[in-house]
Amino acid sequence: EGDVFKYYTDGEWKKSASGKSVAIINPTTRTTQYKVQACTQEEVNKVMESAKIAQKQWAKTPLWKRAELLHKAAAILKEHKAPIAECLVVRSGDLISYCAEEGVRILGEGKFLVSDSFPGNERTKYCLSSKIPLGVVLAIPPFNYPVNLAVSKIGPALIAGNSLVLKPPTQGAVACLHMVQCFHLAGFPKGLISCVTGKGSEIGDFLTMHPGVNCISFTGGDTGVAISKKAGMVPLQMELGGKDACIVLEDADLDLVAANIIKGGFSYSGQRCTAVKVVLVMESVADALVEKVNAKVAKLKVGPPEDNCDITPVVSESSANFIEGLAKDAKAKGATFCQEYKREGNLVWPLLLDNVRPDMRIAWEEPFGPIVPVIRINSIEEGIHHCNASNFGLQGCVFTKDINKAILISDAMETGTVQINSAPARGPDHFPFQGLKDSGIGSQGITNSINMMTKIKSTVINLP
Ligand code: G3H
Repeated sequence: EGDVFKYYTDGEWKKSASGKSVAIINPTTRTTQYKVQACTQEEVNKVMESAKIAQKQWAKTPLWKRAELLHKAAAILKEHKAPIAECLVVRSGDLISYCAEEGVRILGEGKFLVSDSFPGNERTKYCLSSKIPLGVVLAIPPFNYPVNLAVSKIGPALIAGNSLVLKPPTQGAVACLHMVQCFHLAGFPKGLISCVTGKGSEIGDFLTMHPGVNCISFTGGDTGVAISKKAGMVPLQMELGGKDACIVLEDADLDLVAANIIKGGFSYSGQRCTAVKVVLVMESVADALVEKVNAKVAKLKVGPPEDNCDITPVVSESSANFIEGLAKDAKAKGATFCQEYKREGNLVWPLLLDNVRPDMRIAWEEPFGPIVPVIRINSIEEGIHHCNASNFGLQGCVFTKDINKAILISDAMETGTVQINSAPARGPDHFPFQGLKDSGIGSQGITNSINMMTKIKSTVINLP
């Protein structure tokens, strides 16, 4: 039992009374790497209770003091790079500090209104409004950014005066626990942050439907749709899947496009919600583009992450099986395989599929793996049509030297963000980030998240 990571509650690291643990499987070796506590529903109840109590006190803590603690946590996180991957930690530390700075600015301002601007009113009412916290925020980050997408919820929640309960993804839970230790070391009040690990079947619905939760911020896949159907009367922030299209016009700089397809489609082995998930290229430049991308795919290093490879095993066997299913379906329906399909365990070799057509699953579904489909189009309208026919609407990108066309295409694409001449991406982290349709609810980015995790409170002074 000694090697089971403890969970965090009431300012302490504890073992679950369940005596059970959840195994975290190493995607490369496919054996158990770590174990975390399998918390019980009773323990979740306790966490919720402390979060509620801690929040009341925290909301009364001066804003500048809250900011001070967040800056401290950011500094500690940056000092503790070793147990967590260095690159993730720097971005996350900066994100926390930015939340503290943005929070003191936007929450330090309120509004003052007078009544006589609305018809029929005299100047007899003064309205003072400011932002108040929602209460207890439940944060559920995904496996692919367990630290960064946790702090993108923790930072805004805490600066705004909320308490926070974190449910880490099982794959990625240990990185989350290390990160929580940094908040522990910073000296946040007891119960203000908790981190409960456990089986989704035991505590998943119990957490999301818990009456003590006042806001849910979730990033992940289909589970988000299920949560939004079950959650009660609480504000939801959801970042779900994407099928980000990359529209390539005839005048595009094809070297730039190829580099961005590699970066956008294959980095992190395609396991990003903002990955390039379908290339829609004008037929006249398709051959040239495919050739350039293939030359770059050939240079990608495939293997374990420990060897600093570009393409590494995907998160789970079921994920690799799903990717394989998409590849087989495309093969059966006549897609051109630019590379040979190859898989060993969870490791899937990078693959560009040319001549993909709308009847293939890969044209619509997100592989979350290193497979990028190319659909050849004969008009811009055809590209926009394919993009908008998707049930997703996260981001998209368009490559052209004609800025007027780029803007018109951006306006026509039904996605939360369109990048002109670069691959989709969430950052910088203060930019608004949102998905239309099945890609999400609400908007993220530091400022939007702080606002989303608050509510307006008004006091009206009635003059005699
Ligand atoms: O996987 C979803 C992330 O929000 C994508 O973030 O664009 O920084 O990779 P990223």
